[in-house]
Amino acid sequence: MSTKDRLIIFDTTLRDGEQSPGATMNQEEKVRIAIALERLKVDVIEAGFAISSQGDFESVAAVAEVIKDCQVCSLARVMDGDIDRAAEALKSAVNPRIHTFIATSPIHMQHKLRLPPEEVIELAVHAVKRARNQVADVEFSCEDAGRSEIDFLCRIIEATIDAGARTINIPDTVGYNIPAQFASTIEQIIERVPNAHKAIFSVHCHNDLGLAVANSLAAVMTGARQIECTINGLGERAGNASLEEVVMAVQTRKDLFPVESGIETREIVPTSRLVSSITGFPVQPNKAIVGANAFAHESGIHQDGVLKHRETYEIMRAESVGWAANKMVLGKHSGRAAFVARLEELGITFENRDAMGEAFVRFKELADKKHEIFDEDLQALVSNTIKDAAVERYKLQGLSCESGMGKKPKAEISVIVDGESQTASASGSGPVDATFRAIEEIANSQTTLQLYLVNGITSGTDSQGEVTVRLELAGRVVNGHGADTDIIVASAKAYISALNLLTSQALKTHPQVESAGV
Ligand code: KIV
Ligand code: ZN
Repeated sequence: MSTKDRLIIFDTTLRDGEQSPGATMNQEEKVRIAIALERLKVDVIEAGFAISSQGDFESVAAVAEVIKDCQVCSLARVMDGDIDRAAEALKSAVNPRIHTFIATSPIHMQHKLRLPPEEVIELAVHAVKRARNQVADVEFSCEDAGRSEIDFLCRIIEATIDAGARTINIPDTVGYNIPAQFASTIEQIIERVPNAHKAIFSVHCHNDLGLAVANSLAAVMTGARQIECTINGLGERAGNASLEEVVMAVQTRKDLFPVESGIETREIVPTSRLVSSITGFPVQPNKAIVGANAFAHESGIHQDGVLKHRETYEIMRAESVGWAANKMVLGKHSGRAAFVARLEELGITFENRDAMGEAFVRFKELADKKHEIFDEDLQALVSNTIKDAAVERYKLQGLSCESGMGKKPKAEISVIVDGESQTASASGSGPVDATFRAIEEIANSQTTLQLYLVNGITSGTDSQGEVTVRLELAGRVVNGHGADTDIIVASAKAYISALNLLTSQALKTHPQVESAGV
């Protein structure tokens, strides 16, 4: 039996992670990520902000329905409507948590909320009590705690613990803190709040100065026992503390940390890849733990050392975070049973036999083009199948391109728009440019292309290309994704998927932009 305290890993990829511009995920994608997080054994999944839109409400409810081994949480401002909506979305959760918050810094209280501090305390206490009447586990966050006055923090924390909050979260909302200072804030709060022993202290750090992980770990040294973090460090602006870095720091430096997490570390790389593929946010090659170069040794001296004795240059094993998990899972000769079994292991099930049959046909087509099929290929294939089955305004029907040295690139495209086939052709500076221009001949969307990104899903020249297209229209930003072994086709799919998102996605309320609504 370990004598160490448990470090609670609270994953907010589906909520704060989704607040990264363009990282919107649909319900099916959120459920797939939640299943991966459950396999990773995170303690809490913040599945969304239920009041923000009907879609978010349904996603929280769907995650609450499927996940059995983690707590499922919804964010809520301190308003009654937010709390009730969160409770309703969490109705079927085995272990629900409501996470309510209000800003506590002078700058936020004065300019955003326009409320005196006393009223902020009253609202927080009221919200915690209301939430506790509906679920047993309530977390309270002091938004912008990193710039709040310590005396006021102590008062509001004492009052919300008395009201029934079991977890008190101290966010560095704008990523302003420095490790020693943040650690000292946590230490002072725990020392000064008389009922601090009745709650777990949590930290939620943003990465504006690149210090989110350092600040979170420093806080653990002075008493924090929950870290809020995201896969790949996704999140608002520069992101949140990265789950993989936090977990591996605690595990690798067991000699220093008084805590241990329950994370199944071999699931880290597969989960990181899934999140990257669904959001279209690639992982930089030199990113700690999950970057392609994280365990690659370039220089001859390092390679020599690693071959003679691994620990000369490696502080962690690549296998321990799941790098070896990238094994071929299926191939050309795999049958339907093997295909379905592997998808089930990935948490993917189909609504009916037709949908499964369609996915299997696509799998066979892919296996003809590409000999080895990896989990990442299956995830991309299923995303494509689900998108194509959805009722969407635009569907890609056909595409042919001409390009080569000395030739003017040209694309001919046919797209089904509202059930009717339309064709167009265009030339451009390259085949992708020509393809996008041809699509625009049909759609005339008035959008601005903000980002075009190609990634290989796996290695090898027969790998599927995964393309992200970010479009902007009147301030709304969406990321479309497409995968195919032909990157021009993948690009067309991604562009069309972005157009569909612009026509179908409802606007969401951002939790932090509005006033408290009081
Ligand atoms: O950064 C922040 O303060 C938040 C809160 C809503 C917890 O995301
Ligand atoms: Zn945040």
